[in-house]
Amino acid sequence: MNQSANVYPVKPEFAAKARITRERYEQDYAESVAQPEAFWGRVGHRLDWMRAPTQIKDVSYDLNHFRIHWYADGELNASVNCLDRHLANRGEKTALIFEPDSPDQPAQHITYRDLHARVCRLANALRGLGVVKGDRVTIYLPMIPEAVVAMLACARIGAIHSVVFGGFAANSIADRVADCGSKLIITADEGLRGGKKVPLKANVDAALKMPGTNSVETVLVVRHTGGAVDMQMPRDRWYDAVVDSQPAECVPERMNAEDPLFILYTSGSTGKPKGVLHTTGGYLVYASFTHEAVFDLQEDDVYWCTADVGWVTGHSYIVYGPLANGATSLVFEGVPNYPDYSRFWQVIDKHQVTIFYTAPTAIRALMREGEEPVQKTSRKSLRLLGSVGEPINPEAWRWYYDVVGEGRCPIVDTWWQTETGGILISPLAGAIDLKPGSATKPFFGVVPALVDASGQVLDGEAEGNLVLLDSWPGQMRTVYGDHQRFIDTYFRTYPGTYFTGDGCRRDADGYYWITGRVDDVINVSGHRIGTAEVESALVSHPKVAEAAVVGFPHDLKGQGIYAYVTLNAGEAASESLHKELIAHVRKEIGPIATPDHLQWAPGLPKTRSGKIMRRILRKIAENAPDQLGDTSTLADPSVVDSLVKERRVP
Ligand code: WTA
Repeated sequence: MNQSANVYPVKPEFAAKARITRERYEQDYAESVAQPEAFWGRVGHRLDWMRAPTQIKDVSYDLNHFRIHWYADGELNASVNCLDRHLANRGEKTALIFEPDSPDQPAQHITYRDLHARVCRLANALRGLGVVKGDRVTIYLPMIPEAVVAMLACARIGAIHSVVFGGFAANSIADRVADCGSKLIITADEGLRGGKKVPLKANVDAALKMPGTNSVETVLVVRHTGGAVDMQMPRDRWYDAVVDSQPAECVPERMNAEDPLFILYTSGSTGKPKGVLHTTGGYLVYASFTHEAVFDLQEDDVYWCTADVGWVTGHSYIVYGPLANGATSLVFEGVPNYPDYSRFWQVIDKHQVTIFYTAPTAIRALMREGEEPVQKTSRKSLRLLGSVGEPINPEAWRWYYDVVGEGRCPIVDTWWQTETGGILISPLAGAIDLKPGSATKPFFGVVPALVDASGQVLDGEAEGNLVLLDSWPGQMRTVYGDHQRFIDTYFRTYPGTYFTGDGCRRDADGYYWITGRVDDVINVSGHRIGTAEVESALVSHPKVAEAAVVGFPHDLKGQGIYAYVTLNAGEAASESLHKELIAHVRKEIGPIATPDHLQWAPGLPKTRSGKIMRRILRKIAENAPDQLGDTSTLADPSVVDSLVKERRVP
């Protein structure tokens, strides 16, 4: 194949105005890895510190001396950096544009001054309710301005927020509340997505009946849809009743750079989701710096990231990065296909969005509808497009580039993780030529490497497991309450490195191509689901004896969820039980974990020691029975034949 046909060189007209040009990238990258202290010390000046850090980097991945500290003697407050410091010059600038679910409802423009006042009021209210530095606060809100206000109010008083995605069900809320011992929950009466109501408060009520959740003293309820909810006094309080009367100034807490800023739960290979903990200084330096550099942020940009604040993308690139940079960040409550498939493009025209950041799954879904819904709109305001969450297939990339961006806008395909806090591999549009499907080159300070199964580092053109050889300020610091799990999960597989869990190829030009997870995490529409979580939801059903879950390639979602279920002796498989089990998973975890296919499995392929051989199950789900490989080590090889025969054809 002619490689050069697949290269989209840096556009000279973009580079002419870009923050970072090719030369600058090459020089600064070299310095960032050769002298990280000097480099990150300088970058650290972008924040307002209450006490400037003198210790920049103190990191060892050596398990005997393990530590990750950045800016360790610095003191700052994240909300001050996102709000107060902009008041002098950007007080009247729009911080947030809120675009509601329905285009018939008015949009809101919230200035930095307004946002500051709103955050201070809630921060005062939280203090009044007894929340102090270090306490955990769970946020379970729709994509409305209060979600941003809530995060920043926690940051202001040093409370650690844990945002739980509004699509998670009661059980998932309860697990997350119990794990971190939240004192307070901020929720809304109901959410609204694509015209459908989501019973948020009712889900919280159900969660708080579950064991382990009695740390919660108060539930603050935002009136959003006005729908009826049960208020249980004195636990439940209306947000407006508690917040509106508070003073619009609030003295911020002085935080050490390494004090926790937030916990965000994410799925791993095993067990329950883990509480990824990010700290204040390094995270904020990294989120704001990457946001400015990767999106080539200019003062008058209108920036829109379509993620939900329930995911890390929302944390770093709707809230902390953009607001620390004094940008205008659009908060969208809705979905891409409501009221119709032009919605994204109409919002872009309505608010004259210049930078648009979304996920491949959304692009594929919109692509399927053809060009007409796009062509109806102008999109002339756009100048830069971004992608995140999963590998973007070249076909979707080209559609995004040609149809959405009309060949005018570079695409930044940004690879990163909840754990990394910010973007690690991505083009910089003024500096790096693009190749559809490749996240291209490492960001400043990031040292990727590929290793084979034995941990041998591979040079040059190669494919292997992606590890990172050095730290960056936005790196997670621990798994909340389980530091050992942090070390075991990320630093023990390939000693001396951080293991990402992703597979990756490096081409002859040194470009990185992420190939997807190599562990038992399924990436469904850009959302991480652990196979173990879905399995444990299935076996919690009284009729299920055993379950095994794998991912399979899915046209729209990237990966889908395929479940094999063995029923208890005496239970009969039926269509109604099939439906019931799928509904059960939705109820236990949430709609995002809905299995796409569920196959009855009289037996599962196991080794003689009882280990389920997922490799085989994956191949059956992929409909590649000719690639099953060696099945002779199975305790009962015949189960494979029957599974292949009974495969549920998508
Ligand atoms: C995948 C989302 C390819 C990857 C920010 C990673 C990607 C996981 C990309 C993290 C990309 C994310 N290209 N794969 N541009 N971005 N991924 O924690 O498998 O929700 O490990 O963070 O998504 O998902 P998470």
